[in-house]
Amino acid sequence: MSAAPQKAKPGAEKIAVNVTAVVPLNDLVTRFEFQRSDGDLFPPFSGGAHTVVTMDDNGRHRLNPYSLMSDPADLTTYAISVRRDDEGRGGSLFMHRNVSVGDRMTITYPVNLFSLDLRARKHVFLAGGIGITPFMAMIAQLEHSNGNWELHYACRTPALGTYVDELRYKYPNKVHIYYDDQNQAIRLEDLLDGQPLGTNIYVCGPKGMIDWVHATASAAGWPDANVHSEEFLAPQPGEPFEVRLCKSDKTITVGEHESLLEAIERAGVEAPFLCRGGSCGQCETNVVSHDGTFVHRDHWLTEDQHASGEKIMPCVSRFAGKSLELDR
Ligand code: FES
Repeated sequence: MSAAPQKAKPGAEKIAVNVTAVVPLNDLVTRFEFQRSDGDLFPPFSGGAHTVVTMDDNGRHRLNPYSLMSDPADLTTYAISVRRDDEGRGGSLFMHRNVSVGDRMTITYPVNLFSLDLRARKHVFLAGGIGITPFMAMIAQLEHSNGNWELHYACRTPALGTYVDELRYKYPNKVHIYYDDQNQAIRLEDLLDGQPLGTNIYVCGPKGMIDWVHATASAAGWPDANVHSEEFLAPQPGEPFEVRLCKSDKTITVGEHESLLEAIERAGVEAPFLCRGGSCGQCETNVVSHDGTFVHRDHWLTEDQHASGEKIMPCVSRFAGKSLELDR
């Protein structure tokens, strides 16, 4: 991550919004636009920031993080783009099927865990699929200040090339598109080789792509500080399990399709979060005791911490076994 996590109040501050546009972009991706319900301007944000959208799904709250993709200079409107995940736990399906213009929702204040390093002389963006969204806002931000950037964007097919037409039209010399179904691939070694000193690279996309960019840049001698990535992991469904929340004196059951964090919230217990994707460290929770196995999925804790069984990131990680007691 490129920026230190900011402290937030438990649950992060919320803003009431109205849905002002729902724009299907292709078979999988729809853009949602929001304006504040109180008519005020939104808080300022910088490219790479995300917000967490609360969905009220028949009384069940789902909270999903999405990158803000609108122009940071326009504080009348926030926009996100949501890729439908038919195999997921339902948040993106809820957005696609249930959210329409005029609906009222709540979103959190923006938080940026993937910000531009404005000291960089050049910014090279590498996007895979829906990973294009943070770069839409970063590009808008850099265009306002004549920033030096280029985008390399890999999509599965032309039909799923979200925002490709707009990007090519606006920035024909800075945008490079690669279609998997046409066997086009980003030639990363060559790309890295030709960059001026002081260039920073940013990658957002599938885990394989992120790992590939970090490994290739590292092998080419790029400093870690010049390579930025963002990957929010979606919590995975799993077998239900029971948890004792010691401080709150409550015992809860985590359902098959909810995360441990969501189950804690459903019990009315406040728990901090920022990313809800295993990246920011904000939800780190101490384990008081356990008899079973952790299914750690975050990339915040170290391997040693995972092995110790002393901590868990409840936004993405689960547990299987007889008993689990948390310091919450
Ligand atoms: S909320 Fe960010 S790691 Fe859990």
